[in-house]
Order: sequence, then C-alpha cells, then structure tokens
Amino acid sequence: MMGRLLGFLLCFSSFFISATLADWNILNQRTKSGLKISLKSYCESWRINVELHNIQDFTVVPEECVSYIGKYVASSQYHVDSERTIEECRLYLSTSCPLKKDGRDAWLFDIDDTLLSTVPYFKKHHFGGEKLNLTSLEGWMSNGKAPALEHSLKFFDELKSTGVQIFLVSSRREHLRSATIDNLVDVGYHGWTRLILRGPDDELNEVQQYKANVRKQLISNGFRIWGIVGDQYSSFEGLPSARRSFKLPNPLYYVS
Ligand SMILES: *[C@@H]1O[C@H](CO)[C@@H](O)[C@H](O)[C@H]1NC(C)=O
Repeated sequence: MMGRLLGFLLCFSSFFISATLADWNILNQRTKSGLKISLKSYCESWRINVELHNIQDFTVVPEECVSYIGKYVASSQYHVDSERTIEECRLYLSTSCPLKKDGRDAWLFDIDDTLLSTVPYFKKHHFGGEKLNLTSLEGWMSNGKAPALEHSLKFFDELKSTGVQIFLVSSRREHLRSATIDNLVDVGYHGWTRLILRGPDDELNEVQQYKANVRKQLISNGFRIWGIVGDQYSSFEGLPSARRSFKLPNPLYYVS
C-alpha cells in the first residue's frame, strides 16, 4: 500500500515537473498553437533548433527530452549525421580549396565531440539533463579514455596526406594537455601541427573570443584557414572567420 502510494507520488511529481518545464503540453500532447504531436516529435524539433542555433545558451537538456537525446547519440542516425558533415568537408576540400602547399594551408578542429567523443561521460550523467560539473568532466577527461569519432579520424588522415597543417583548438584547459595528447594518440590521431588549449589568460574570455583570438594569431602568422570542423557555434563565430565552417551535431551541451 505504502509502496503504491509512494510510486504514485513519485510518478505524479515527475509528471508535474515535466509538464511545467515543457512548452509541449503533456496532457493533450499539443504544441502551443495546438498542433498535435508526440513527445518524440517535440524533442526532435528541440534538437533541430539547437543545431540551427535558434536555441542558445541552454544549461541542461530539457528533462522530458533526456531519453530522446540519449537514444539519438547512441543511434546510427547520429553517426550518419556526423558522416554527412565530414562528407561535405571532403567535397569542399576537393572542389573549392586551391591549396598552395607552402606550409601555410591550415585546417582547425575542435577536440570534444569533434575528434573525441564525450558520449560515454554523458551516458553516466543523464545525457546533459543535469547541470555540467566541470570537476567531474575534467576528471573523466584526465583518464584519457574518450573514443574517437571514426569519420573525423578518417578525414584527419586524409587532410594530413594533402599537406594541410592541422591545428587542434580546444576549450580544454592546459592542465589536461598530457592526458589529451595520450588520449588522441591512443585512438589513432597523430601528426597535427599544434595543440592549442586554454591557458589562464584565455580562461578570462568566453570560448568564442578565445577561439577567434587563436584564428587571428594564425592568420597574422600567414596561415590560410580553409576550414574548421567543430560541434559548437563558439568554434566558428566572431572575426576573423575561416573560409568555411562545418558543424557536427551535438545536442548534449552548449558552450558560449
Ligand atoms: C562535482 O563533481 C565532483 C567530482 O566528482 C564532486 O566531488 C562534487 O561533489 C560535484 N559537485 C556537484 C555540485 O555536484
């Protein structure tokens, strides 16, 4: 009896939390304008609008979409989406980049959720449904066990063979340098030109400003930044920009 009552109360309270958090109305499964949709469809639209950069600065994945996002990042759809991004990089590189091959052709990559996957971490942390704990995330990163994103790894190697200089520009902090190098090398990345991490001064800036400063520095050193692959808009926005930017899917967290 007590168990059933408790079960009912728990069920009711989580129902109440989702219902108040959502734009989607859990009672009659309609959007604000009255369109009848499923929860899956509601969360799909949340995810697409994150990728379109209409939804910004979110600190957690909405509670009612945690299960949907968890399924997405474990799905073949996520891998197909990522492969498509990389395929577009290849197309651009082969048709629109007259490389000078003078050692000044450059390409930039993010690290997390671009070269290495943090999905195993977020699997244990409610798929972005709980507020990010930097201590805990950095602890996980320092173990150096992040798997590679396989399509990115292939493209990384193809780029290298064209003689393009590869710069890894990450919002990871300097104290993670050796763990990051070990992790990258373990899963097959090698031969980059420079690994740029955030030093104490850069930590005073937002990630977007830090990354723009890095591009400015590279360009003033004579590099032509043909492209960037990243999973966050803060990797591309601001000036100077790269000639093209390629956004990989990431509905788990937002970095500004
Ligand atoms: C963040 O993670 C650390 C390390 O796992 C833990 O000690 C700490 O209590 C966490 N902080 C919060 C606010 O959950």
